[in-house]
Amino acid sequence: MYRVRADDLRSFLAALLAGCGASDEEADEVADHLVEANLTGHDSHGALRAPGYIEKIDAGEMIPRAAVTIERETPTTAVVDGHWGFGQPASRVAMRLCIEKAKAHAIACVAVRNANHMGRVGYYTGMASREGMVGLGCVNLHGASPCVAPFGGLDRRLPTNPFSIAYPTDREPDFLMDMTSSVVAEGKVRYRHTVGRPVPEGWIIDHAGAPATDTSLFYEAPFGALLPMGGVVAYKGFALSLAIEGLAGGLSGAPCSNGTAERHGNACWYVAIRIDAFGPLADFRRRVGEMIDYVKSSRKRPGVAEILYPGEPEHRTRKSRLEAGIPLDEPTWEWLIAKAARLGVACPKAAHKPEA
Ligand SMILES: NC(=O)c1ccc[n+]([C@@H]2O[C@H](COP(=O)([O-])OP(=O)(O)OC[C@H]3O[C@@H](n4cnc5c(N)ncnc54)[C@H](O)[C@@H]3O)[C@@H](O)[C@H]2O)c1
Repeated sequence: MYRVRADDLRSFLAALLAGCGASDEEADEVADHLVEANLTGHDSHGALRAPGYIEKIDAGEMIPRAAVTIERETPTTAVVDGHWGFGQPASRVAMRLCIEKAKAHAIACVAVRNANHMGRVGYYTGMASREGMVGLGCVNLHGASPCVAPFGGLDRRLPTNPFSIAYPTDREPDFLMDMTSSVVAEGKVRYRHTVGRPVPEGWIIDHAGAPATDTSLFYEAPFGALLPMGGVVAYKGFALSLAIEGLAGGLSGAPCSNGTAERHGNACWYVAIRIDAFGPLADFRRRVGEMIDYVKSSRKRPGVAEILYPGEPEHRTRKSRLEAGIPLDEPTWEWLIAKAARLGVACPKAAHKPEA
């Protein structure tokens, strides 16, 4: 593993993306998103994604400097088209629109289509909670890239379809739930595959449906599948995934998973709800703060040091990684260094120091 300071990684990734044709603003925005994912502990959505983004740019599938346009609009809704640019600017525009419309009308929702991978949904629902609103977001894979078996099934039929809800509290941090409808994000399996580690039991099955931990049974033919979230009640994760297909794919006009879509991307659906339309914001923040204290005060099961609430693990990891730097796996880092050398982009020095 290598360790790089967040600021160094951010400017390095931005320089690489700009070297591949992104505008300075896009490069900064995407690099910040990836580094925030690393800072919050979601390495599956951090710098690990940069090689894939750059390969897509080189293949003409991710279009730098693409416009983000509003295709349909009412006072409380809109459909945004990302024109197959980076997914992050399209999601930012969509959530910003939600927030501005909700300021005027208490609630608004905006769908996104024709966008590439937008990273972490919570990055955008958090925009709403910082404005005193409830933020909701969900994402499908634009109909493509199924890797999750339906409840009771063997074949890949659905993507990992994530869902996020964020709201402000008077505790630190705000509540931020951001999770896949599968056991975990596919990137977490990919990360373990990249660094040569097995996955825990209960994440994947092999082609014949037997429980598996060897990631090659997922990435090599005949392909196994990820399981829907929920263990023995995985029909709940499966139900959530189908609901997300309708909201993100159905409402945006992007395909839902149907076995024919070929272009891998993200279709999204975002909502912002103004809390003070329902009563004083301070009362809401206090009520949910008291609830958090109450929940955390439970007796703990053996081996559990502390009860955490959604958003808290990320907040803590962010604090420690801002201090200690971001750990990066060797294959990703070496790919980025090699690309930087070809583009004439300078690498951060600290990155050359392998960990003991
Ligand atoms: N763009 C895409 O196509 C795409 C697809 C899938 C996932 N994603 C993103 O991947 C990321 C990871 O998703 P995931 O489901 O693998 O993450 P995960 O399994 O780590 O679950 C994350 C959620 O669980 C909470 N959590 C984790 N540990 C906890 C604990 N001990 N106590 C209480 N709460 C806890 C976190 O705060 C967070 O809300 C998300 O940000 C998601 O948006 C994106």
